[in-house]
Amino acid sequence: MRIRRAGIFIPTALCSGCSGWQSMMVAKGPSAEAIGDLFLIFLVILAAVWVAVAVMLMLAVWRKHEARPDPLPINNGWERRTTSVVGAAGVLTGVILVILTGLSYAGQKSVLAPKDAPLTIEVTAHQWWWEATYVASDPSQIIKTANEFMVPVGRPVLLQLKSPDVIHSFWVPNLSGKQDLVPGRVNLLRIEASTPGTFRGQCAEFCGWQHAHMGMIVSAVDQASFERWQAQQRGSRADPSSESARRGEQVFLSSSCVMCHTIRGTPAASNVGPDLTHVASRQTIGAATLTFSKETLAGWINDPHAFKPGVRMPRADLDAGQMSDLVNYLSGLK
Ligand code: CUA
Repeated sequence: MRIRRAGIFIPTALCSGCSGWQSMMVAKGPSAEAIGDLFLIFLVILAAVWVAVAVMLMLAVWRKHEARPDPLPINNGWERRTTSVVGAAGVLTGVILVILTGLSYAGQKSVLAPKDAPLTIEVTAHQWWWEATYVASDPSQIIKTANEFMVPVGRPVLLQLKSPDVIHSFWVPNLSGKQDLVPGRVNLLRIEASTPGTFRGQCAEFCGWQHAHMGMIVSAVDQASFERWQAQQRGSRADPSSESARRGEQVFLSSSCVMCHTIRGTPAASNVGPDLTHVASRQTIGAATLTFSKETLAGWINDPHAFKPGVRMPRADLDAGQMSDLVNYLSGLK
């Protein structure tokens, strides 16, 4: 922590574009802090080594050569000095490598801290979106959401990372390092936010055409807000509040939407695409690709391929009235 504060100036100056809500330079949790500290220590030590080597090299190249007799007479004093300097440099290199290895090991230990936490979220990566399931022994307490999820500040959260298709990588730089999601196995990652905030994450392993549009948002809130959010997310969908929204629900249930999505409280119960029960409580659509609004929602449903070519969601074949009703319905699903 102290080292990070003292050293924050250098990377900030070098890397002014890396600040913000998706940056490992702005650590907001213990695991990200450990990685940030390690990065700065490596940066400082290796920069010093590089400068020392570069200076020695320049001295050697630019040194004036005096005329030397051929063959050179043996100069025992010079030989001893050269041997000591090279020997000392070798020892110093070894010491630096041992120190860096020890620091890496210590940093890794804090990153891979105990694999138990009061809250467990199963994160499943799909081409190209994130499914989040809050694990609970009581099925009525399970929460399912997509691309955006909440965590309580100051509490460790264990992520069980899975993938049914290809290898993805979970990375929310403000909170932790990367961890791959590999088909056929469950990888674990512990994250913890030390301050409230909204942090953007990104799939960090090339996973196909829309890899770059596989973002996510993690919001860290205080315990009371977290519990309110949980209670709200556990509930079924909000009843349609207008005639248009009621018609919109019928549009949803009678079109191809129902083949892929779940809206609890309706017969729609498919798990191919994101759970939309509380879709209007999210800030974005399309895995953090577009800001959530009625306009973007209509544009997305009308032609998702215009925003994310190759996405699995097909174009909707709806007339203007149906689209308006459907958007009114979905934007009421808080
Ligand atoms: Cu998923 Cu890249």
